[in-house]
Amino acid sequence: MSDWRSGMTPEEFRDKLALLPKNPRKRYGVIGYPIKHSASPKIHRHWGEQYNKRIRYDAIEAPAGHFSEVAYDFFLYGGRGLNVTVPHKQIAFRICNELSERARACGAVNLLEQRKDGTFVGDNTDGAGLVRDLTVNQKLDISGIHIAVIGAGGAARGLLLPLLELAPASLVLANRSIKRAQQIASELQLADAIETCAMRKLANRHFDLVINATSAGLQGRIPTIPTEIILQDSTCYDLAYGKAANPFMSYAKRKGAARVLDGWGMLVEQAAESFEVWHRLRPD
Ligand code: ATR
Repeated sequence: MSDWRSGMTPEEFRDKLALLPKNPRKRYGVIGYPIKHSASPKIHRHWGEQYNKRIRYDAIEAPAGHFSEVAYDFFLYGGRGLNVTVPHKQIAFRICNELSERARACGAVNLLEQRKDGTFVGDNTDGAGLVRDLTVNQKLDISGIHIAVIGAGGAARGLLLPLLELAPASLVLANRSIKRAQQIASELQLADAIETCAMRKLANRHFDLVINATSAGLQGRIPTIPTEIILQDSTCYDLAYGKAANPFMSYAKRKGAARVLDGWGMLVEQAAESFEVWHRLRPD
């Protein structure tokens, strides 16, 4: 990762941010790439209106390798809190002074808060948001089922532990190259709890729940998965929503999946957690 401004270490960069004067005009936002499609600004502004608060929340574009450059300007001009999405969750992890247990456990951060004293607190709400959407909103019973998580980037990391806590019969993490999947399993100390495999090795296996954690949809593509893994009683879930979820969702529907869901519910659950952390108010 060669993102850091002028050769700084993540720690030096973080200390520099801590010394920035506090701009009284507080800002919030979501940082990632691509980001123009993000519905987060609308959601946060909507809740702000509910509470009669004028909230400045923007979609902030930062291509891979530019997180620190863009984040610096954000915090210079009043930034107090950031949602972090593809491809920066692991970079954001490295600028935190404090981490929640779940963020530390998965090595990725999707929720950043800068405290008044300049310190950064990081959390990962991906797994909690997904699990809440699956079990509460969709009423899916995870215990005893067979799950495949496809894709082994920053998005997949936060999901594994919260899913395992619900005692599925098995959980397979599959990626085009098995190496990244193995790396996550080893970093999260899950080598005994999950199976890792190359995507093509999923052929002829059947899963009750297939979760698309790849970024293929952001490029308008269907992830390269063997066709047989989706059957008529499968539930298919794409972590993305809107246009980016279309390729996988249409594909799953064509294959006859019983239920095909996008990540809208997960997004709203996560947004509510962020809103509560930053504004101490829990939206409905
Ligand atoms: P992040 O880490 O922020 O989630 P990423 O590092 O770009 O973003 O990871 C994206 C994931 O989507 C990776 O697992 C990637 O697979 P590779 O490790 O093999 O690159 C996966 N991915 C992207 N496009 C894909 C495609 N067309 N088919 C299958 N997997 C894809």
